[in-house]
Amino acid sequence: MTNKMWGGRFASGPSEIMEEINASIGYDQRLYNQDIDGSLAHAKMLGDTGILTAADVKKISKGLEDIRKEIADGKFEFSRQLEDIHMNVEQRLRELIGDTAGRLHTARSRNDQVATDFKLYIRQTIDHLAEQIGTLQYVLAQKAAEHADVVMPGYTHLQSAQPVTFGHHCLAYVEMLGRDRSRFKDARKRLNECPLGAAALAGTSFPIDRKQTAKALGFDRPTANSLDSVADRDFVLEALSAASISAIHLSRFAEELVIWSSAEFRFIHLSDGYTTGSSIMPQKRNPDAAELIRAKIGRILGAFNSLAIVMKGLPLAYSKDMQEDKEVAFDALDNYSLALAAMTGMISDMEPNVERLAKSAGGGFSTATDIADWLVRVLALPFRDAHHITGSIVAMAEKQDLQLDQLSLEDMQKVEPKITKDIFNVLSVENSVKSRTSYGGTAPTAVRKMANKWIKALEKEGLSS
Ligand code: ARG
Repeated sequence: MTNKMWGGRFASGPSEIMEEINASIGYDQRLYNQDIDGSLAHAKMLGDTGILTAADVKKISKGLEDIRKEIADGKFEFSRQLEDIHMNVEQRLRELIGDTAGRLHTARSRNDQVATDFKLYIRQTIDHLAEQIGTLQYVLAQKAAEHADVVMPGYTHLQSAQPVTFGHHCLAYVEMLGRDRSRFKDARKRLNECPLGAAALAGTSFPIDRKQTAKALGFDRPTANSLDSVADRDFVLEALSAASISAIHLSRFAEELVIWSSAEFRFIHLSDGYTTGSSIMPQKRNPDAAELIRAKIGRILGAFNSLAIVMKGLPLAYSKDMQEDKEVAFDALDNYSLALAAMTGMISDMEPNVERLAKSAGGGFSTATDIADWLVRVLALPFRDAHHITGSIVAMAEKQDLQLDQLSLEDMQKVEPKITKDIFNVLSVENSVKSRTSYGGTAPTAVRKMANKWIKALEKEGLSS
């Protein structure tokens, strides 16, 4: 049997394999709401412009709403022979209302139809993701406010560098996620132009009103070039690239959580809800959620890569290659969303091990920079000289197996005679972090202020945990 939608010039139907490679209904059925919304807007416009009669539009619209309900109720039978969601819906419409169904496709093509549907889907997904990111930011900002005074080691090269506060570390991710969120919002602005009415590629000779359909579907305006309208998948690539960058952030954080929750570090405690046990080693509490979040970047960046490669050599306008945009995007954005949810749950349950963090914060001569700064501030030495002197003091402490604040004043004066006991004020971890009050610095006062600023801003947007 030839295809009812396009089989006019065909003597026989597609081969089994052709059908298999051609069909997208297995995954694009999730676009059914967008497809029906697009068709309703299109039908109404066709009526308003006198292209269809009011009676036909009424019949079509009623039929489309009935189909929406059938699909939502799980009563719709999707057919692979009908390739995709667009033709499945149209064929069902024909069954429900008869030949009038065939008038819906006036001044439209599946090319502008699929671009419209997918844009609507990506737009809605972006809105949801942006909210999820905001919720994670909120949870992190609350942790930051709560633990603004908790000291911990700050690292560079994963070597103890300078003490920081736990709240400060949380806020670093709030900033990253803030940029991630703005990347999605920015992509949303750019994608919000309606391709419907571009038809197959050249526009249409019917007197359609593209502004009307654009407005009805919540777009800012119609797209301005019909070729571009059906050939563009930038909006998918942008969403995937925003997801990839954000997934990199989640992955870095997840890696830290894996390290921090290890028996060697014991910096944090992860809840039962976000860890698993081992079937053989009873002592284990594995940070599986963190590990899986760390891994999700693989398929998310993979999806970007995959679609970028699909698109890179395509001549204008539409090519069937572009059907490959959906499966990877669905998978990537679903998994990114899941990673955000898992991270949010894990973080809201996470508890820092305050004593352990404080003990580690003083290790590795982490207040050495504070000695150098003291030599500059109090003795007016050039920083490079102060750095050198401090290096000698650290070497001495290392040799005697002591922390910096356990060294005697006499020993320090052997290195630099002008050092006074006042230097001991800067050797404690608490004083070290307290002193870092510069804007964006780790001092508890600064952290508390910044955390509260975020909490307020996010609450103003209606976000909370
Ligand atoms: N299922 C197709 C897709 O996802 C719809 C567009 C098909 N257009 C066409 N001329 N074959 O891209």
